[in-house]
Amino acid sequence: MKKVYNPKGYWSKRLEENFSLSGVGFTSFGRNYNKWLYRMRKKVLERVVSRYKIDFPNIRTLDIGCGTGFYVDIWRQKGVRYLTGIDITAISIKELNVKYPNFDFHEADITSPTLIQDLNLREKSFDLITAFDVLFHIVDDNKFEEAIKNISKLCSQDGLIFITDIFPHKRPYIIFHQKSRLLKDYIQILSKNSIEIIDRVPIHYLLSAPLDISSKLLQDVFLNYYWSGIGLIERKTKLIGPIFFILDSILTRLFKESPSTEMIICKPESKPL
Ligand SMILES: C[S@@+](CC[C@H](N)C(=O)[O-])C[C@H]1O[C@@H](n2cnc3c(N)ncnc32)[C@H](O)[C@@H]1O
Repeated sequence: MKKVYNPKGYWSKRLEENFSLSGVGFTSFGRNYNKWLYRMRKKVLERVVSRYKIDFPNIRTLDIGCGTGFYVDIWRQKGVRYLTGIDITAISIKELNVKYPNFDFHEADITSPTLIQDLNLREKSFDLITAFDVLFHIVDDNKFEEAIKNISKLCSQDGLIFITDIFPHKRPYIIFHQKSRLLKDYIQILSKNSIEIIDRVPIHYLLSAPLDISSKLLQDVFLNYYWSGIGLIERKTKLIGPIFFILDSILTRLFKESPSTEMIICKPESKPL
């Protein structure tokens, strides 16, 4: 019988076994690789936030799929005082409540149609909403739309939304626990919920597999041979992480698009006067 992806079961098991960057990142690549992977993500995030005037101490921030709290820590260091985190797993919420007692964490599914009524949120609307590597883990299209609907309802009129995914151009990337939708489909669903993309920036070229490829065969070859080969070499040498970090740092400065992970920066569509 075909195994069906159960997000709560899948993520609870993964994070209970390994509550670290390897648990939320590329588990089989090991700690060293994930350290470089996340270092690159932080670097790009710093570049992005420097482009916007964000009054960190006074904004209300919502981190969807907060996982092990990597981004919670970044926002805390930037002076954020009002932060809410949502995650589908009990372990993430338990750990982050202990680590950050001044912030507000809730075990919840962002795809729930009754999310806002069910949660007794301290804040009802947010100035910065982030969903880092979370929305592609919603493989059901109706649930994906519910998630976008919730994000739209929770965002303040002049708020910003940061989302990371692959945003492929020709072929969605689909595996057991992931569905990376086409950029044009993202634009359409966001627009249906009165959200527009104002910027899109590359995060990785190499640290995360370049999978925006139009051929299914090539996608499979890439994933099964190239990517697993890279994992093998990294585990043996621990050199791939730092080398790819240097290359990604250069490539993300040189190019505006990547075939791998990107970040979209969105905002609610301006209402006509
Ligand atoms: C790949 S991890 C990313 C974690 C974190 N954002 C990061 O980048 O380190 C995906 C996270 O999303 C959470 N998640 C998956 N599906 C979710 C859903 N439907 N609602 C809320 N959280 C979800 C998982 O429990 C996990 O913590």
